Amino acid sequence: MPEKKEKFYITTPIYYTNGMPHIGHTYTTIVADVLRRYKKMRGYDVVMTTGTDEHGVNVERAAKKAGIAESEFVARMADAWKQLWDELELTADEFVRTTDLKHVRTVQWLFKLCKENGYVYKGHYTGLYCIYDNAYVNEPKPGNLCPDCDRPLETVTEENYFFKLSAFQKPLLDFYNKFPEFIQPESRRNEIISFVEGGLKDLSITRTSVRWGIPVPGEEPHVFYVWFDALTAYLSAVGGPEYEKRGMWPADVHLVGKDIIRFHTVYWPAFLMAAMLPVPKQVWAHGWFLMDAAKMSKSKGNVVLPRPIVNMLGMDALRYFLLREVVFGQDGNFSYDALVTRYNSDLANGLGNLASRTAAMLEKNFAGIVPKPETRLSQDDVLAKAAQSAIGEVLERYDRYEFARALETIWGVVAAADKYLTTEQPWALGNSPDEESRKATILWTAAELLRIVSALAYPVLPESTSKIWTLLGQSLGISATPLDGLRWGQLAPGTNLGKFQALFPRVEKTEAVERIEAMANEELNPTQPTASAPASTTSGAAATPGPTAAASDKIGIEDFAKVEMRVGQIKTAERIVGADKLLKLTVDIGTEIRQICAGIAQYYEPESLIGRKVAVVVNLAPRKLRGVESNGMIIAASVGPEGRPVLAGFHEEVEVGARLK
Ligand code: MSP
Repeated sequence: MPEKKEKFYITTPIYYTNGMPHIGHTYTTIVADVLRRYKKMRGYDVVMTTGTDEHGVNVERAAKKAGIAESEFVARMADAWKQLWDELELTADEFVRTTDLKHVRTVQWLFKLCKENGYVYKGHYTGLYCIYDNAYVNEPKPGNLCPDCDRPLETVTEENYFFKLSAFQKPLLDFYNKFPEFIQPESRRNEIISFVEGGLKDLSITRTSVRWGIPVPGEEPHVFYVWFDALTAYLSAVGGPEYEKRGMWPADVHLVGKDIIRFHTVYWPAFLMAAMLPVPKQVWAHGWFLMDAAKMSKSKGNVVLPRPIVNMLGMDALRYFLLREVVFGQDGNFSYDALVTRYNSDLANGLGNLASRTAAMLEKNFAGIVPKPETRLSQDDVLAKAAQSAIGEVLERYDRYEFARALETIWGVVAAADKYLTTEQPWALGNSPDEESRKATILWTAAELLRIVSALAYPVLPESTSKIWTLLGQSLGISATPLDGLRWGQLAPGTNLGKFQALFPRVEKTEAVERIEAMANEELNPTQPTASAPASTTSGAAATPGPTAAASDKIGIEDFAKVEMRVGQIKTAERIVGADKLLKLTVDIGTEIRQICAGIAQYYEPESLIGRKVAVVVNLAPRKLRGVESNGMIIAASVGPEGRPVLAGFHEEVEVGARLK
């Protein structure tokens, strides 16, 4: 543990506001969150930042298409990104928006320093420009297409301010040489070194062709080029010009995808060197999650969304899969099949099963109190040693950002414990003093192992390990447990165990995948327009409130007659795993029994509905809600600002199947 609380500053890229987060963006943010939790448990004073990159031509165009001002457009998008991170409990300490005043000031200040030090001059630039990636392109693909995204490039000529990047070839190479850990992983470092050795051209850092950007003071219509603007967000998040007061700068690690490593390891240190400011300690580039061997993008229709996965399998399942499945730094393929397979094998049958077995036996045999281990046998010691040595190994692996291997080590211990219980069979032991004492030792050992495993896995699985922690009656919160003090043998006999809460219910693979896909489909192609958050800006549907019928619009009786409503009687009602607002009902409508989903779970207990007569729209086209088929609609009033549903009903006896007219 550091002697005095050392600081650790982690960043994610700031994400473009012209799209919504998919699993790729979520991956970077999850890794940052894992590191944040881990470093805190190692005693560091940690700050993690994320944010949104809100300037540039793309935003101008998307806002225009949506028919609203850029400021309104980016505000809605930033809210939508924040909301998702909140839902996924990915808590950043700072969320920077590049339209924040504090950020604007920082960019202008950095430019002034670079200029005062002689690294900025005025010139003209003509080039092919990719408006989607916000970058000039030197080597276009045939047909003047962007080599990164395959979309058409545009020729742009304009007066620009240039940054003397060429002056930094040697300083950068010296820097990489002196701090070999600056670029990670190693393969990326070699790639960047050869790029810089190949020579650096000066870089245009302002635009006159773009309106939506941070103005260059006294030089309007110049606005800053997106990368000069965006990279500076890391500094504005922790104090900007007053960074010394906060004491967090330089960043300890910038986590980025491999697509943006050059900006972070060449431009960014050069800007800072020119301004004579401290340079970050490390840039860690991870690979991409691919879908069908291609980078995800909405235009290709191959995006994977985080929400449906979390709704179906829980937040920890997503975190575990992303970190366990792919070696950090390399590309990996995403597949729902692999996700659910891992969920069932490692989480439901692995950790979840070990915890529930142990909890049940402790409850049954020791009335929910941690027993005292008695005489230890060699097999108990073997397990103890495995757990103890896992501690050091796991910390080392986390330190090296080898998340998959850290989890592999932890799950190695979980498997050993499973085997231990199967061999020792505490459930088969009787009530003689010797057998009771043996049972106590075995169950204490299993519980102690669960404690160690939970503390080690907490950064990746915060939700489920917190539940195990409560089960084990640990008073100090798991997130505040110092990993440096973690040792085998600290579980005190006599501790009162807490309540066991189910961790990872097993799921049937085909059904789970179907439901995740159906939920993703709903989110990508919402049937109901939502006014709150734009779904995507590329489709142009973003940020435009849904149409509302003008008060004077009337329908004829023939229109109303198209809606077939009947009296239905609820036969069964149940909650739906992963959909806390929905109930799955079966309703007798006279001619048949229908399955209908209703968004009333927060207001009606399922049992209270059985036998109730309701008004049902019976000729609606069937659709899937949260992946569950719904064939009809129950009519309810929407009451109060939160739209509480109150079921429409009848005060007199009515026959099931009677038509409402
Ligand atoms: N705004 C810039 C970054 C500026 S940082 C000063 C940007 N934004 S982005 O919205 O395109 O997000 C880029 C980041 O999202 C990538 O660097 C990577 O971290 C993550 N990912 C986006 N797609 C990804 C995958 N398919 N797989 C893994 N991560 C990917 O670039």
